[in-house]
Formats: sequence, C-alpha cells, structure tokens
Amino acid sequence: MKAARAAIEPAAGGEVAVVMTMGALHEGHATLIRTARERAEQVIVTIFLNPLQFGPKEDLSRYPRTFDADLALCRRQGVDLVFAPTPDVVYPDGDPGVRVSAGPLGDVLEGASRPGHFDGVLTVVAKLMHLTGGTAFYFGQKDAQQLLLIRRMVRDLDFPVRVVSVPTVREDDGLAMSSRNTYLSEADREVALCLSRALAAGAAAAAEGPSAVRRAARAVLVAEPLALVDYLVLVHPTTLKDVPEWYSGEALLAVAAKVGTTRLIDNRPMLLGPGGGPLEVFDGTGA
Ligand code: PAF
Repeated sequence: MKAARAAIEPAAGGEVAVVMTMGALHEGHATLIRTARERAEQVIVTIFLNPLQFGPKEDLSRYPRTFDADLALCRRQGVDLVFAPTPDVVYPDGDPGVRVSAGPLGDVLEGASRPGHFDGVLTVVAKLMHLTGGTAFYFGQKDAQQLLLIRRMVRDLDFPVRVVSVPTVREDDGLAMSSRNTYLSEADREVALCLSRALAAGAAAAAEGPSAVRRAARAVLVAEPLALVDYLVLVHPTTLKDVPEWYSGEALLAVAAKVGTTRLIDNRPMLLGPGGGPLEVFDGTGA
C-alpha cells in the first residue's frame, strides 16, 4: 500500500474506486472499502479532516484522530493507496473563494442545524474527486442527505463519475456506526440506542402508511427523555419533503438527536403502503 500527501498520478485504466473519509475509521468504512475492492482494479482511501464543513461551534478540534490505526485498517482491507493531504494541499490559498453551493436541499434537516455544512462537504468532495482521478465513489447511506447532495452535484454539474451507495453498518444492538460514537459514555450509548430503535419501530409499521410510521417512531423517542431530538422526519428520498398521509412508495425516516454532548444522526429507507417494509438502500448500483 502506498501513501500520498500530494496530488495523485492518474491510474493507467480500469475502475478506480475511492472511499472518502475524515479518518477515525471503523467497520462502516471497512465495509465501504470491501465493497469497492470487490468491484474495482484500484482502491484509494482519502483521509482528510475537512475544516470547511465544520461550523465555528462544532467539534473540529476534538474530532477523533487515529491516523496509525486508520493506515493499519486500510492495509488489512487491501487498499492500494491512501491519500492523506494536509490542508495546504487541498486549500493552497486558504479558504477557497469559490465553493460548491448545495442549494435548497442543503438548507433542510442537517443543513438547518449546521448552516454551510453541505457547501463545505460538496466543495471538498468535488476537489477530492479531481485530486484522486477516481471513476467510482463509495458513500454510506448513514449520511443520507450528504449522499443525496453528492448525487445531485454529480448529475447537476456533469461530473464524469459514478456514485455508489452502501447500506449503513450497525453494531449488534442496532447503533449505526459512526466516528462520533467514540464520544459516547457507556450511559450515553444506552440512550443513543433509542435512535435506531425508533427507526426500526417506524419501519415495522411501513405497510400501514406514514401516520403509523411517524407514531411508532415518535413513541420510542418520547420514552427516552435523555435524547434531545432535533428532528424526526418521514420524507421523500430525493426531495427531502415530508411525505403526505396518503403517500405510498419509497421514503426515508430520518432522525437527529443530541445525546450527552454528541449529536447523532441515523435513518432508515423504507417502502410505504400495502406490501411495504424496510429497504436496504434506494439504489446500490449508483447514478
Ligand atoms: O462523510 C464524511 O466523512 C465526510 O463528509 C466526507 C464525505 C469525507 C467529506 O469530508
């Protein structure tokens, strides 16, 4: 495995798969890498803690940094190249004057609580797409709004790449894997389980329609007062608008809550209406 800190030589041909990360790698990242490894000639992992996507009051300074363990995980997963640039490689002139705008889809849900977050994400994703020269980019469904916006950027701005989504990886008890889980105390972790339990309760009611899903999920969250819920929504997967009560079809049940000092998010794709139920992802093959 090679490691690079400056721009990468273009690959000779074939599929070049890229998994972008901010480090603090876990089994969720390993699954992304394995999925990429099965399909591509070359697999690149980027490790870059992108300051542009953190607000002034967010957790950039305390974000977990585990570079040596990250490299070891990449080596075990058969990664060909780790691209771990320093900020001056990605942003040689400091904060970029020109940025990608996420537009209205970037202002709702996560964007409502984290203004400018998705502009920062899309700007670095666009840059890392160029700097790596990848042809297929693998992202987790856990960050569903990020995934949707990356797909939109690729389509709206004609990036000649494929985006592949991979289902959320969960701990045995249902907790969605996240680098931020390392912030949770043992007691917090127990409380955090209400997110995945609420989503599972909602998904179990999918055949009964939107009100039943919302009711079932809300009941689980209400029973856990130590989780401070930011939002619980049942939305259309591409418009992120609340689905009306009569709706049947694909939908996303998404939740964000603060547990202790940690903000957690999770979601479950599902098919609503008769014959409905949980879905893995909307589209595993990519745009
Ligand atoms: O999902 C993440 O870890 C980050 O948002 C990403 C896509 C690597 C961009 O910094």
